[in-house]
Amino acid sequence: MGTEYITYKGMLFPRLDYSPETISYLQSEFQVRDDDVFNVTYPKSGTNWMLEILSLIRCDGDPSWARSVLNWDRAPWIESNNGQEAALKYPPPRLLSSHMPLQFFPRSFQGSRAKVIYTLRSPKDVVTSYYHFTHIMHAFKDHGPLDAFLQDFLSGNVPYGSWFDHVAGWLGLRGQDNFFYITYEELQQDLRGSVQRISRFLGKELSEQQISSVVENASFQTMRRNKMCNFSEVPDEFMDHSKGQLLRKGVSGDWKNLLSEEQGRRIDTVYQEWMQGLGITFPWD
Ligand code: A3P
Repeated sequence: MGTEYITYKGMLFPRLDYSPETISYLQSEFQVRDDDVFNVTYPKSGTNWMLEILSLIRCDGDPSWARSVLNWDRAPWIESNNGQEAALKYPPPRLLSSHMPLQFFPRSFQGSRAKVIYTLRSPKDVVTSYYHFTHIMHAFKDHGPLDAFLQDFLSGNVPYGSWFDHVAGWLGLRGQDNFFYITYEELQQDLRGSVQRISRFLGKELSEQQISSVVENASFQTMRRNKMCNFSEVPDEFMDHSKGQLLRKGVSGDWKNLLSEEQGRRIDTVYQEWMQGLGITFPWD
């Protein structure tokens, strides 16, 4: 598998970010607080978009507040800085972001009143975005040609495992008061309405003007220019800036420019096996 990944309980994680100890620590020892807000996603599903939305909601739409989100579940915090200590210094309510599948999430989340906002995106667009991203970020290995990457994606042989398992696991929490899910496609179709729904879930009253500011500052074009969220400041040792950027295209349906019809059908087959039982219709269905 190369040296880029570690395997923990059968799942791959980037070695740059995790060790078995850090994952075990956050699963068994990390103390979730009732006022924590978690941004949870499978990679390439709109993580940074939702982070920007949540950060803006948190500061009443004022973009002059620097975004500061604790990289709480990654190795540097835990190994060199003691993650719990760092997390404790973060002013409440903490906004925490994670790609963890439910089975690796802190056990102390169960029974807590901490809120989770789970954003998901069409798996075909996730594959497309993820494939490009593996060539930009050094945390990922080169999985080879597109077809090899697709095979790895379908079998969960990529960091954070199977999209299908991730989505099915987290969506199992729907119906719980502290769990909210939304799709990338809904954010695109109606960002204003989505921001209003998210604010309501967070119990945060925003004026019409504040909502407009969130919408404006979380737009693709504004985020692309904003160095606090466009990854332009990520050091070269982690990212090859010559190969692309985080805010790549920001559209739905770009998979049609990458995947063949046959590859699309292979995704459909696995999708149907996993998702039929969920009984949810998504914008891309
Ligand atoms: P593309 O690669 O398809 O362009 P993540 O943050 O989970 O890594 O997801 C990155 C994807 O979200 C990228 O998709 C990126 O362009 C898209 N994205 C980020 N901010 C966005 C925004 N404001 N509007 C639309 N898409 C956005």
